[in-house]
Amino acid sequence: MKTLDTAGPTAGGRESTGETLAIRGGRPLNGRVEVKGAKNLVTKAMVAALLGESVSVLRDVPDISDVEVVRSLLEVHGVTVRDGDEEGTLHLDPSGAVSAHFEEIDAHAGASRIPILFCGPLLHLLGEALIPDLGGCRIGDRPINFHMDALRAFGAVVDKSYEGIRITAPNGLHGADIELPYPSVGATEQVLLTAVRAKGTTELRNAAIEPEIMDLIAVLQKMGAIISYEPNRVILIEGVESLRGYDHRAIFDRNEAASWACAALATGGDIFVGGAKQQEMLTFLNVFRKAGGEFDVREDGIRFYRGGPLKPVVVETDVHPGFMTDWQQPLIVALTQANGRSTVHETVYENRLGFTAALVQMGADIVVHPQGIDSSTRRVPRRALEQAAVINGPTPLHGADVEVPDLRGGYSYVIAALTAEGESTVRNVGIIRRGYEKFFTKLAALGADFDVIG
Ligand code: EPU
Repeated sequence: MKTLDTAGPTAGGRESTGETLAIRGGRPLNGRVEVKGAKNLVTKAMVAALLGESVSVLRDVPDISDVEVVRSLLEVHGVTVRDGDEEGTLHLDPSGAVSAHFEEIDAHAGASRIPILFCGPLLHLLGEALIPDLGGCRIGDRPINFHMDALRAFGAVVDKSYEGIRITAPNGLHGADIELPYPSVGATEQVLLTAVRAKGTTELRNAAIEPEIMDLIAVLQKMGAIISYEPNRVILIEGVESLRGYDHRAIFDRNEAASWACAALATGGDIFVGGAKQQEMLTFLNVFRKAGGEFDVREDGIRFYRGGPLKPVVVETDVHPGFMTDWQQPLIVALTQANGRSTVHETVYENRLGFTAALVQMGADIVVHPQGIDSSTRRVPRRALEQAAVINGPTPLHGADVEVPDLRGGYSYVIAALTAEGESTVRNVGIIRRGYEKFFTKLAALGADFDVIG
């Protein structure tokens, strides 16, 4: 079997790689996998290294293409990045930081939104930051409006041109009083990465408080920042004159851990996820148990398996400490095998249930309600952009020819194909490398029957 895991990063992180798997399903996944540092912390901690006046060391960095994208973006900005002796360790030296051009940033960023988070550090360092106009829905006004409003509050000037967005800070950046319209993860990170070196104090209200954000705060505190986390989603940041490099082991990837847990649930398998921790997964573990899953928490990880027949659940995705939007896709695959009607309300993104069409093609009974559905049992009916999926189970799944749309949807297709009877063709699986380290090696180790066919 050819494995994809040794392949290089997808070209510039663009979301079309053309790799195809033939998967023969119907076998439980059994065995042990290890998870490393969280994609959604590691990439931000790498950007934070730009703020230091000495070398930073980041540990437990997964070998995923999103890390490669950030690495090349840092290199374009003059940061020297080298692999440490310990596997998964990066040394980041920002002493040669320089401005980059729109085209260079664009060429290295691909579909990634990471260039947005370079703004604060680059403004402090060089007085200017550029965000290429990636076009279409990838960077429109709306998805980065919280970021731009926050930067303006710090005193930055935002100019739009045909090439992209040029942000400058002619008078430096000062502390700000910011209330986010929604506890956005990225916008909270934007504020943190900017406020730590702004002049004066910043108060951020309605902040995201995901564990990865808390870990970024820990990174910044190691660098010399003064950040306090107050009740009710308030974060106070006292700006400091200078920051130093950090030495940090990244928090584990709870999204990857939850994905493997759902793979065990869907296929009727038994998977030990080394490196998974209970505390950051409490909400997931409750739903997992209610859906018929069982788990044993150990010092070095968590074992996931079925505790009996699968049961339907009602879930709504939410910001932390709610049920993460990145957990619903693999869970929905398992729910196709549950005995009854489940409902998943997606409240974070406006279009994150489209992936279910392929599951329907494989035999699932899933109806998506694009405007959401009213429910008296909803805890917080919240956002105009809600949708809901109603899943009626159990339905046997059968093989199909499907194309991966995005990272989490793609993972769920592979798990669905492994749950299904017969052979499936899953195309464009390279996207999964964006967030799952050694994905195909791990699948093979768990007993999955598949070939890379193109
Ligand atoms: N939003 C705006 N304006 C903004 C920023 C966000 O309207 O300026 C909206 C978004 O459109 C969305 C909601 O706010 O509807 C939440 O977006 P958020 O900013 O919280 O998400 P993000 O920072 O872009 C990160 C993760 C996502 C994860 C979300 C939610 C990274 C690189 N990405 O995205 O992870 O789903 O938080 O937890 O950290 C993934 O790993 O596959 C992934 C998509």
